[in-house]
Amino acid sequence: MTSPLLEIENLNVVFGSLPYPAVADVSLALGAGARVGIIGESGSGKSVTAMSILRLNDERQMAYGRTSRVDFEGKNILTASAAELTEIRGKRIAMIFQDPMSTLNPLIRVGRQILDVLLTHKPLPRGEAKDKVMSSLDAVGIRTSERVFSSYPHQLSGGMRQRVMIAMAIASEPQLLIADEATSALDVTVQDAVLDTIEQLAEERGMSVLMITHDMGVAARFCDDVYVMNRGEVVESGRMADVIIAPEHSYTKKLLASVPRVYPLDRVTNQPRA
Ligand SMILES: Nc1ncnc2c1ncn2[C@@H]1O[C@H](COP(=O)(O)OP(=O)(O)OP(=O)(O)O)[C@@H](O)[C@H]1O
Ligand SMILES: [Mg+2]
Repeated sequence: MTSPLLEIENLNVVFGSLPYPAVADVSLALGAGARVGIIGESGSGKSVTAMSILRLNDERQMAYGRTSRVDFEGKNILTASAAELTEIRGKRIAMIFQDPMSTLNPLIRVGRQILDVLLTHKPLPRGEAKDKVMSSLDAVGIRTSERVFSSYPHQLSGGMRQRVMIAMAIASEPQLLIADEATSALDVTVQDAVLDTIEQLAEERGMSVLMITHDMGVAARFCDDVYVMNRGEVVESGRMADVIIAPEHSYTKKLLASVPRVYPLDRVTNQPRA
């Protein structure tokens, strides 16, 4: 068997200010081109797990377990050097968050912001970089890309801003996209369109996606495999379809019962992907 693109082994995260571990013995594997979900209620450790993949937790306030590993292409990110992290962050692994307004600079036009991010990862001639930004805006379904390029963040709708965040994340062609509640703030139809966009990009580029959500409907719609987290631990994992149809853990059953939406069961039971 070839080794997975990302393999988390026994991840433990302890914050000095927290009497219990934020993440406890989490193991997770994600192959090239895979769509994997982490689902769990607020405070269950999803974001801390995601941040650990990019070593973005504030290491003055927390510690990783001594035997914890986050292997990306076989290299342990938890012991990587600053130079190695720069090589990985944003370039090989990109992350999008829930709130684009806290990530985008309100004073700079969005095109310029995407360009700057791209140029830090890839030293390209300016004209070529701009072409790449325009094609990224195109790829995320923005048809008025010239207008959006020269807009300030507040001039765009929430859905459009989230698309801009995705364009920024994919411009440097990462192998793995981590989406942390990336569509949670959007209304359901916009959420669906943005998920479609991520899905299409993942397929076209063979990009893996780690989708973090508290919404079982989103996970059901998007993920092939899922990890259910509760109080820092993975309490259940497996194929999304199996977990939906026959959840084993009482917490997963509770999560499923709390979703008012009808799942697209045909999508998850047809198992279109190997
Ligand atoms: N910087 C921090 N300092 C102290 N505790 C933290 C810090 N960041 C997160 N925690 C704690 O770690 C635990 C896991 O938090 P995390 O943000 O991973 O939850 P989550 O599953 O992403 O929740 P949500 O769905 O609300 O985003 C929580 O108890 C949280 O309060
Ligand atoms: Mg979170």
